[in-house]
Amino acid sequence: MKSAVFRICGGLGIAAMASAALAGGHGDGNPAVKARQSHMTLYGHNLGVLGNMARGNIEYDAGAAQAAADNLVLLSQVSQRGYWAPETSNADLGDETRLLPALFEEGGFARAQEIGAQLSEAAVALAAVAGEGQAAIGPALGPVGQSCGTCHEAFRQPNN
Ligand code: HEC
Repeated sequence: MKSAVFRICGGLGIAAMASAALAGGHGDGNPAVKARQSHMTLYGHNLGVLGNMARGNIEYDAGAAQAAADNLVLLSQVSQRGYWAPETSNADLGDETRLLPALFEEGGFARAQEIGAQLSEAAVALAAVAGEGQAAIGPALGPVGQSCGTCHEAFRQPNN
């Protein structure tokens, strides 16, 4: 059965798009690196909305808070199997990535998945209360941020 995307893009177009995606788009950068950095950008955006509401930087909005928390849950459940590929640390690829080789000494994808599971659990707890008011967000956001931080501290090159 042809997918909707296949029909919209047309048979030849989608094949070209698929091979471009696997080869890294227009030849700029490693596709696994781009995928994980993009995923992180989405984490950051949604966490940022909630963080700003918790701090009172933007007005609390139950719908927006719920949407951001739901997005974090969904993002944490997306398989990251292809993102944490061997030979994609900054020891292999230089400045293109901030992933430290330490991840691969500690199990690679399996370790990333372990921290991801903690993050997922914390995001589910956050989503359960995000619509209940501004005061509920901060305490539930803490454990989510801690999971992000656990991974960043161990496996992300600090900005210098
Ligand atoms: C499994 C480990 C792990 C978890 C969990 C994790 N991160 Fe990351 N994050 C990384 C690594 C490694 C990088 C550097 C990626 C690269 O440059 O290839 C990164 C990069 C980022 C970036 C910069 C993206 C860019 O364009 O370079 C942001 C923003 C970010 N993370 C936010 C978050 C937030 C918010 C969370 C939690 C909701 C989170 N991360 C959870 C490991 C993780």
